[in-house]
Amino acid sequence: MTARLIMKLRVADAVATTPEVLHLGLVHPARPELPAWTAGAHVDLRLPDGRVRQYSLCGDPADRSRYEIAIKREAAGRGGSAWAHETLAPGAFAHVSAPRNNFPLDPGARRHLLVAGGIGVTPLLAMARALSASGADYAFHLCAPSPERAPLLAAVRTVCGPRLRCWFGSEGRRFDPDALGPAETGTHAYACGPRRLMDAVQEGLVARGWPAERVHSEHFEPLRDEGFVPEPFEARIASTGQVLHVPADRSLLDVLRGAGLDLPSSCELGVCGACECGYRDGAVLHRDAVLPLAKRGSRMMPCVSRARDAVTLEL
Ligand code: FES
Repeated sequence: MTARLIMKLRVADAVATTPEVLHLGLVHPARPELPAWTAGAHVDLRLPDGRVRQYSLCGDPADRSRYEIAIKREAAGRGGSAWAHETLAPGAFAHVSAPRNNFPLDPGARRHLLVAGGIGVTPLLAMARALSASGADYAFHLCAPSPERAPLLAAVRTVCGPRLRCWFGSEGRRFDPDALGPAETGTHAYACGPRRLMDAVQEGLVARGWPAERVHSEHFEPLRDEGFVPEPFEARIASTGQVLHVPADRSLLDVLRGAGLDLPSSCELGVCGACECGYRDGAVLHRDAVLPLAKRGSRMMPCVSRARDAVTLEL
């Protein structure tokens, strides 16, 4: 793995798409094209104090001239959204990473069902743009308290047309996973939004007979498991045979770096996917919110995940 390119991009436009969501267009001040990306990708936005936040790209993946992101001001957040709202006006600069995609469209799917809640609309709008451009079969379910509080609603309406179904609480309509229908062969569902919506989609569809690998979701909130008590374990490096002790009060990533292994990282909260590495044998305790189920038998996020007793890393 290599570290991600960090670019200094200029804010070309900044529009309040709802009272609490700022929609930004970002361009390179000197280059006409930005690194390519695919629908579902996110970028890291670096804050002045060095912290990073992840934001999904919501523009058109075919348009290399600009990136678009939308940032919700989080009253109870960690300070990044407030800084962005106060600072990122047209002409300002932002340090933004090259895109990474942990939430891609399944290339083998015949039909795609997109379920967006609130600011979770961002990656799904990019997906809808890509699916519309390729003529693919899809439907878009948009959940929000009201039309006025639905970020990017005008763009979603333009892109999706009759494929859009809105679930606005103000109109007494609450999303029901039954609206997605039965698990027909080749149909994949994608959800992004508040955890309760994603849990309702994930658990509701699996309970209705959908295979878990056809229900995709993206979380940008760290896993909350206050009851988790970290325990020490051993990490063996497969390529060298070196064995490292990981004490209860340090992360595996921290111990690997202390031993001179140069692993990339970004969020260090288990949400961005930057530190992903492979492992073989060992009972891994996955504590991230990003790795899909299908990869958990051989990949892990050492910034937050640990092991019971021992793990052998493919490093
Ligand atoms: S650094 Fe973001 S998941 Fe580990």
